[in-house]
Amino acid sequence: MTAIEVLAVASEIYPLIKTGGLADVAGALPGALRPHGVKVRTLVPGYPAVRRALKRPQPVHAWDDLFGGPAQLLEGMAARLSLFVLDAPHLFDRPGGPYADAQGRDWGDNAQRFAALARVGADLGQGLAGGYAPALVHAHDWQAGLACAYLHYGGHPRPATVMTVHNLAFQGQFDRRLLASLGLPPSSFSPDGVEYYGSIGYLKAGLRLADWITTVSPTYAAEICTPEGGMGLDGLLRGRADRLSGILNGVDLNVWNPAADPLIDTPFDAEHLDLRGLNKAALQTRFGLDPDPDALLLGLVSRLSWQKGVDLLLGALPVLLAEGAQLAVLGSGEANLEAGVAAAAAAHPGRVGCVFGYDEALAHGVQAGADALLVPSRFEPCGLTQLCALRYGAVPLVARVGGLGDTVIDASPMAIAAGAATGVQFSPVNTPMLESALRRTAGLYADRTAWRRIQANGMASDVSWRTPARLYADLFRSLIAEPAG
Ligand code: ADP
Ligand code: GLC
Repeated sequence: MTAIEVLAVASEIYPLIKTGGLADVAGALPGALRPHGVKVRTLVPGYPAVRRALKRPQPVHAWDDLFGGPAQLLEGMAARLSLFVLDAPHLFDRPGGPYADAQGRDWGDNAQRFAALARVGADLGQGLAGGYAPALVHAHDWQAGLACAYLHYGGHPRPATVMTVHNLAFQGQFDRRLLASLGLPPSSFSPDGVEYYGSIGYLKAGLRLADWITTVSPTYAAEICTPEGGMGLDGLLRGRADRLSGILNGVDLNVWNPAADPLIDTPFDAEHLDLRGLNKAALQTRFGLDPDPDALLLGLVSRLSWQKGVDLLLGALPVLLAEGAQLAVLGSGEANLEAGVAAAAAAHPGRVGCVFGYDEALAHGVQAGADALLVPSRFEPCGLTQLCALRYGAVPLVARVGGLGDTVIDASPMAIAAGAATGVQFSPVNTPMLESALRRTAGLYADRTAWRRIQANGMASDVSWRTPARLYADLFRSLIAEPAG
């Protein structure tokens, strides 16, 4: 097996900078691909946190003017990741988040920021860093989408390209008048290029021009080809269905290992599930819940957004409470949803608790202490929290959509009889069906032997990157072997 070089282009990467699962995937895939002979280096923006973490940076290239200011490309290691860092202070050295300011308003120059990232990704793909010639460029989400366009219109031999969609809801659409300033030729502004309903579509460009498209679960790959799930891009995706596949995400078992997790109160494994009770007690204390070892404790670790179905959960709260359950919510996001959760906690002290914000350690604490983990998403490309939950013996209660449907085995009577059940699913995604799933979950929880079996099945299921990494490696090799397009 000859080793291959892959350049990943990503706008966030765990553990350096993260707003969601994209960072987890970008951070874990390089390590998972290494045993398959795939050497990944990742190009990321030089946000302050990334610049600080970069060890012994080596300058690779410099620009006097890259989309409005001087910039340099640095190469180095951080958190065992092999990185190229686009150090462009005018674009990336600012407080706030990677895409928006502290008030949640998108940065006004996102078009330039992520065109710059993509442009440099494409240039690296074509040999910008002397001696480095990746065989494939792997673009993650809209922020990297234009890399496929720059390579396509570059007029040079180019590496193979893969566009991975983590979430079709975020598409990166910008004013057509930017075209020339982005360095794209007039001919690129067509339905076969970067044009998307009169604008420039960064994700659209990647979906149209990449050699292959992946998304993060087989079911989401099918869903995005339908008008209901395609968010306006289903026609294009149907047309490219022969170049589209779904590869599930995994979780990094070094980060998510209940037997040796420094972020939880009491480590445990499948043979010592009783120890979870100590984590449950700690969680109840942290969230101000009644210290009741027998109450069904439901956890939610999530961005608080429409996608995640938080409003459906609030609608089902009376049933949740009637079943005697408790609810612990860790999340941040839309103001009205935060307000709804806060109001529920205020109305039901001891039964509903919440922590707003992003707290990595507490996310582990919820997984380790909750009896069940809720993921009532309206759509979910893959979802990672249910995978962590399986690993930690928190029974996932999930909407049957996207990757949630692909990773959880519903505790139907047949699945229970076959010893295969790992969680509870509901569909269609609405409050009444969530309510009935909550009742079903409470019924299962009341039978402790059955519940333990479901927990044990979940903990035994393979949520690692082993199989997904092999599928990526096989895909990359097959594309590299294709004649240049
Ligand atoms: P998405 O990327 O759509 O937000 P995923 O389930 O793929 O959803 O990934 C979410 C990631 O972010 C998981 O690693 C989860 O543990 C983490 N996460 C979400 N909200 C929080 C939070 N408030 N605090 C800590 N971690 C969080
Ligand atoms: C997106 C999706 C989520 C997925 C993650 C990583 O943020 O919303 O379902 O798990 O990307 O691929």
